[in-house]
Amino acid sequence: MSINAPRGTQDILPGASEKWQYVEKKLVDLCRRYHYKEIRTPIFEHTELFQRGVGDSTDIVQKEMYTFEDRGGRSVTLRPEGTASVVRSFVQNKIHGSPNQPTKYFYIGPMFRYERPQQGRQRQFVQFGIEALGSDDPAIDAEVLALALDSYREMGLSSLRLVLNSLGDLESREAHRNALIRHFDPHRDELCADCQVRLDQNPLRVLDCKKDRDHPAMATAPSILDYLNTYSKEYFDKVKEYLDVMGIEYEIDPNLVRGLDYYNHTAFEIMSDAEGFGAITTLSGGGRYTGLVEEVGGPATSGIGFAMSLERLLMALEAEGVELPIDEELDCYLVALGEEAEKVSVRVAYQLRKAGIQVDKDYLGKKMKAQFKTADRLGAKHVLILGDREVEENVINVKDMVSGEQKEIPLDDIETYMKNQLLGGE
Ligand code: HAM
Repeated sequence: MSINAPRGTQDILPGASEKWQYVEKKLVDLCRRYHYKEIRTPIFEHTELFQRGVGDSTDIVQKEMYTFEDRGGRSVTLRPEGTASVVRSFVQNKIHGSPNQPTKYFYIGPMFRYERPQQGRQRQFVQFGIEALGSDDPAIDAEVLALALDSYREMGLSSLRLVLNSLGDLESREAHRNALIRHFDPHRDELCADCQVRLDQNPLRVLDCKKDRDHPAMATAPSILDYLNTYSKEYFDKVKEYLDVMGIEYEIDPNLVRGLDYYNHTAFEIMSDAEGFGAITTLSGGGRYTGLVEEVGGPATSGIGFAMSLERLLMALEAEGVELPIDEELDCYLVALGEEAEKVSVRVAYQLRKAGIQVDKDYLGKKMKAQFKTADRLGAKHVLILGDREVEENVINVKDMVSGEQKEIPLDDIETYMKNQLLGGE
């Protein structure tokens, strides 16, 4: 009986993995320019971190975590997102004590959520995310938004929409929360079972409900923007002002509430408007959080960040028909026939690889014609041919597969010759 990969996971095979490498490299370079440095945290953490960090009332914690007991009887969870782990590490390593604030991190790695798989929704997916901790300056909110957008634009995507909201500070949220309860309470019995619980625990979540989306009370729900106090309103205005300064367009959606509990002030999502992108149009999301560092035992420190899955980025590239500049060719393929030639070819391959040239050869004892066929299939730019005669005369035949030209080169000169051909004589 064959064994398949678990539902909601995928193998990334050659042909696709080059695309992953390409986008990852571009994202790392983008982070270098914005001066965000890489952090790598464990793939599993104590379950309590996510219960406290992501929030007990969220779908992620209630329904989607891969939680298990390890052999020592501790409850651990495969990380469903990156922010809680980054904040845990920030506190544990006392980074808040460093003079270089804000602390600006990025991460790329697998995350796990037990969701119903569909296009753009996996159970294991790779998130690229950033977090800036230790600054309350609205300019850094704008910086995070700019980086988030650039991470798509620089890949060549254009059907993008930045949707922005403010969830305000604690005082504003409290006022809005009370207004939401007053508004939805008369309809309590008409709401889904989850929303009835949400109404008590975190009424903002009701606005995000997929089941009750079309309930008439949704359209008339009180808007957070009407409940922002002066500080929150001014904060939001500044963020918008900085976006205007950079010429970044956005739209305001007062119903944008994120699926995690830790947000206040700035909350945003980037959507794809590309035709054929699929039912889920959100590419990425993020926002500002204040209580999180304290929640895991650190001093009052706020942060802002965002995350996106590379799966959805690649889906958007496909939907917009963006061709990534990926070179799938092979520099050299060595064709050898005869025992002596085989030995020399092993030596030449080793020498050229050390010189920075990409080389492959036959390992199946194929006939010469079949070796040529393989070279062709692999897209070899040059085929290097060694037979008994060449070995005897200490030469090697080099065929340029583009021009069809063939040249005999002294074996001693092959490295220099190939370097000239492929690396421009470096
Ligand atoms: P999130 O909205 O839960 O936020 O996820 C962010 C992004 O991760 C989504 O927009 C989507 O691109 C991707 N994603 C989430 N779930 C899946 C899935 N099942 N399959 C494929 N992709 C998925 C966070 O995770 C926050 N930690 C973002 C953040 C960082 N906020 C502040 N800092």
